[in-house]
Amino acid sequence: MVADRCPHRGVPLSLGKVAGPTLQCPYHGLRFNGAGACVHNPHVKGDPGRLAVRSYPVVERFGAVWVWTGDAALADAAKVPDYSWFDAGRPGYRTVRGQLHVQAGFRLVIDNLLDLSHAEYLHAGTVGTPGSSGSLKASVDVGRTVSPCCERCSTCRRRRCSSRCGTRRSASTSTPT
Ligand code: FES
Repeated sequence: MVADRCPHRGVPLSLGKVAGPTLQCPYHGLRFNGAGACVHNPHVKGDPGRLAVRSYPVVERFGAVWVWTGDAALADAAKVPDYSWFDAGRPGYRTVRGQLHVQAGFRLVIDNLLDLSHAEYLHAGTVGTPGSSGSLKASVDVGRTVSPCCERCSTCRRRRCSSRCGTRRSASTSTPT
């Protein structure tokens, strides 16, 4: 996967087109391969130069594309969580796939999905089973500080620690059982 920003003038590469094994920028037509290297510049003869777009290691597993946005040298496909039931299915269950476009930062979506204690109340009548919030137990282990909204990050002092902070520690949250 490559960043959605041409390294030449910053045009979103998602507006371009696929040209064989490359992605062609819609502005000046530079072409980039899957590793992000510029492999074709229609305005020069020969070597297209060292221009490159940032690329990210990916692995396709369990019907999803897992993108490693951190240090590429540390990418480890073995760290992809086991969601094998998405592939194999389980008796009595079926997998439903789809997309939900949210006009918000992805961290807010993660916060929401990890906070299952709200389901009984906010989603009463649909997926919120009465009494379920008291039996939920979750554990999260992350590489960055994720402060509950009532705390401040010990390093950057922001109420919600952002990626700009870079503080590394393990944080765990759990809901009452
Ligand atoms: S902006 Fe992409 S090739 Fe010029």
